[in-house]
Amino acid sequence: MIARVKLAPSQDRPPAVAGDRLALMAGSHQNQLTLCDHLEAIADSLPHGVDRGMCAYAAKMLGPLLRDLHVREEGVVFAWTEERFGDDPSVLTTLELLKNEHFEDECFADELAEMLGRLGTADATVNPETAGYMLRGFFTNLRRHVRFEQQCLRSLAADHSGC
Ligand SMILES: [Fe+2]
Repeated sequence: MIARVKLAPSQDRPPAVAGDRLALMAGSHQNQLTLCDHLEAIADSLPHGVDRGMCAYAAKMLGPLLRDLHVREEGVVFAWTEERFGDDPSVLTTLELLKNEHFEDECFADELAEMLGRLGTADATVNPETAGYMLRGFFTNLRRHVRFEQQCLRSLAADHSGC
């Protein structure tokens, strides 16, 4: 199921127009929300209905996928926003906050990937309650981040619509 999470085609250059940047961000958010849905399905299947193959696959792709999406968001959308509106200190503060959330989510993803790898090998030392708690903590936080990031970018666009 997680195999359905596909990245947008790689882009060597920053998108030329605002619509492309918005599309990149929308695609990144959609990929993250789809990832959350799959992780929620794993959490819901605990303790006896776990698809070990799905867990093993999720363990492998979780960290790289999230990092790749963050690199695109920061390298294209955040960089453009900073270049365009960086003279506003509140914009820089917001971008720094969002980057910190990316870093925290990546660290959490590494811990989750380790646990998913153990679930994938039917490691009997995995506590299903702990696994469920970690999974729900991760996807709840990631969904919140996506909503917050969308809200920040919308209000930033509204505040600077005259630029
Ligand atoms: Fe983000």
